[in-house]
Amino acid sequence: MKKELVIPIELYADSGELEPDDAELLNLARKSTGDAYAPYSRFRVAAAVRLANGKTLSGTNQENASYPAGICAERTLMSTASVLFPNVGIETIAISYDNQNGKSDRPISPCGICRQSFVEFQQRTKTPIRLILSGMKGTVQVIENAANLLPLSFSGEDMK
Ligand code: THU
Repeated sequence: MKKELVIPIELYADSGELEPDDAELLNLARKSTGDAYAPYSRFRVAAAVRLANGKTLSGTNQENASYPAGICAERTLMSTASVLFPNVGIETIAISYDNQNGKSDRPISPCGICRQSFVEFQQRTKTPIRLILSGMKGTVQVIENAANLLPLSFSGEDMK
């Protein structure tokens, strides 16, 4: 038997094609890249979330001279959200970046550790996380559920 997994992705030519709330969140992520602390990679990443309680927050990557100590924008933001609003779900997260070594005109998608963290965050808050991915300009990808980015994932359920 063979099974194939399909990942649905919505594509938009630019942020002007998004619904106003989504465009606003992506704008916040783009603007927040200026707050990143990324002197080593010069790759400034920012994320902005709309929470289930209607609040909006942003977060950025935070690097360190001891490189592995650095934290991605997405996980910085999940931690901030958990501290300020415990157990409140993330409805939508917009992720953007300003690559000071090159271009920033196409979407990037979150690293494997962040995908794993999203999946557990959405499980425990019982709120699927929708992702909006784009650079500082250009095409936008929308993914309806963070679990779509991590098929066949491992979770605490597997340890029962
Ligand atoms: N980074 C993020 O913050 N999020 C991502 O989705 C990809 C990578 C950061 C980690 C590091 O500070 C820099 O980008 C280069 O990898």
